[in-house]
Amino acid sequence: MAEPTIRAALPSDLADILDLYPKAFPDEDLVPLVRELLEGEVDLLSLVATRGEAIVGHVIFTACKVEETGEPVALLGPLCVSPDCQRQGIGSRLIAAGVAEFARREVREVLVLGDPAYYSRAGFKPRAALKTPCPIPREWAEAWQTMPLQPGSQPLTGQLWVPGPWQAKALWSA
Ligand SMILES: CC(C)(COP(=O)(O)OP(=O)(O)OC[C@H]1O[C@@H](n2cnc3c(N)ncnc32)[C@H](O)[C@@H]1OP(=O)(O)O)[C@@H](O)C(=O)NCCC(=O)NCCS
Repeated sequence: MAEPTIRAALPSDLADILDLYPKAFPDEDLVPLVRELLEGEVDLLSLVATRGEAIVGHVIFTACKVEETGEPVALLGPLCVSPDCQRQGIGSRLIAAGVAEFARREVREVLVLGDPAYYSRAGFKPRAALKTPCPIPREWAEAWQTMPLQPGSQPLTGQLWVPGPWQAKALWSA
């Protein structure tokens, strides 16, 4: 099977990206969030994985900050890989490409709210110290994860500020 290529998403990729989400998330409608993020003025990194002409994976990293200090951080999500291309390392490559870009930008941490069984494989640690924009259910404490990007730096503390599309309470609750 051909190796996937990871590249920055283009405006012309939007329809293919939006088609991918219902296939990867049959029980959850992430299309409005993805559309709002990609069509708005949000500062983000949108990456696609392609195989030939087909878009087989997508991830968004949103530029956020620590409210009190303005320290830049990035929030990972959503991430999806076409069901027929899962377990081939594509999700891991999308994560690694985004993390590498934010490390180059000297961002201190990448955060994610997701399954620790999956994200720990990429180096995320549970129970990020930064406070989520809205309270999360207690049982999700382990799912709020961080990856420090600068060796030896202390975990960031304070309140995480996220841009508009990420401020919806529903994104942070069961
Ligand atoms: C989760 C997802 C992005 C992973 O992408 P992927 O390309 O299949 O991931 P990779 O190939 O890099 O890694 C696959 C490994 O992760 C494991 N894995 C995948 N999802 C997992 C999960 N939720 N929990 C634990 N492990 C998981 C697989 O078992 C596999 O390991 P194995 O091959 O050793 O068994 C993809 O499966 C997907 O789009 N799923 C549906 C949407 C979703 O749940 N997204 C979550 C992020 S918000």
